[in-house]
Amino acid sequence: MKTVRAKIAGLGYALPEKILTNDNMSKIVDTSDEWITSRTGIKERRVSSDGEATSDLAFTASELALKNAGTSADEIDVILTATTTPDTLFPSIGCILQDRLNARNAVGFDLSAACSGFNFALSVASSFIAQGTYKTILVVGADTLTKYLDWNDRTTCVLFGDGAGAALLKASTDGSGILSNYLMSNGFDGKHLVMPGGGSRDPECRGGRFIKMDGKEVFKFAVKALENTVRESLRMAGLSVSDIKLLIPHQANIRIIDHAVKKLGLPKEKVYVNLDRYGNTSAASIPIAMSEAYAGGKMKPKDIVALSGFGAGLTAGANIIRW
Ligand code: ACO
Repeated sequence: MKTVRAKIAGLGYALPEKILTNDNMSKIVDTSDEWITSRTGIKERRVSSDGEATSDLAFTASELALKNAGTSADEIDVILTATTTPDTLFPSIGCILQDRLNARNAVGFDLSAACSGFNFALSVASSFIAQGTYKTILVVGADTLTKYLDWNDRTTCVLFGDGAGAALLKASTDGSGILSNYLMSNGFDGKHLVMPGGGSRDPECRGGRFIKMDGKEVFKFAVKALENTVRESLRMAGLSVSDIKLLIPHQANIRIIDHAVKKLGLPKEKVYVNLDRYGNTSAASIPIAMSEAYAGGKMKPKDIVALSGFGAGLTAGANIIRW
């Protein structure tokens, strides 16, 4: 019997129209283009407008992924959204998308793993497909973290942007698709990156409804996590670093990517980077980058593509795909 794998049949992404450059950021907090560029690589980010919710971006990205896959909404079995900035605590964005796409035969739900969310969702979806439970799954990564920033805190507000990306997965037996996934969490160090307000611990957000982060601790975790998740997922697929044609890392900080890529011994030309234009869009960063890379002709059939993300939890995960 041939192995059934989840193959990416279509991709799409969406970004808010409003661009916030580093120069404009320096009018909001005491920072500069020089500081942000040299410490992070970010030049500008997209910021959602008032009333523009995560599902609005997720819907546009999903419509594009369906169109590019030549698939109708009726064919979707599951809509799985990775997000930590849902429109409301419930219903989930998965269910909101079911309604907006008119996906009559789908089951929708969300998954929360912060910036690692898209890799976690891909891994869940690929297991559903490999087990034969479902055949067609829409995986969405979408976040609007700019709504949860303390615009007086220059150590966090310069880092994030908003966006959404979507991938339509289909069951395939042609040898391509998701070959392996590796997920990890380190809940013991979760305190280094938190959103304390808005949950059941502090529903009225007395402690603030903002991201709080120990940047240095997250940085150290991220460099190790990026390297380790790629190595582990490659090992599970029976491959090595030299097999990678393209690495699409979570787009948080160019220095994190550079350190990890150096440790992996991967040439920089094999790494896709767009964080200069969008900043850290959390669960959306990898599907946006993957959509752009594909549209730019960076992946050819049979190429080995590695996706690796890390984030709050602390969490990290990678997927290895034969394109
Ligand atoms: N502009 C100007 N100066 C700044 C800024 C800023 N935006 N932010 C901090 N500084 C200052 C600090 O106050 C400090 O000044 P001091 O020396 O007078 O005290 C100085 O710059 C150095 O600050 P550091 O914190 O040491 O800077 P560092 O080189 O560590 O860079 C950064 C900070 C960019 C946040 C880095 O630690 C980082 O990228 N960490 C990882 C963050 C990350 O990627 N988080 C997202 C994870 S994904 C998720 O799930 C949400």
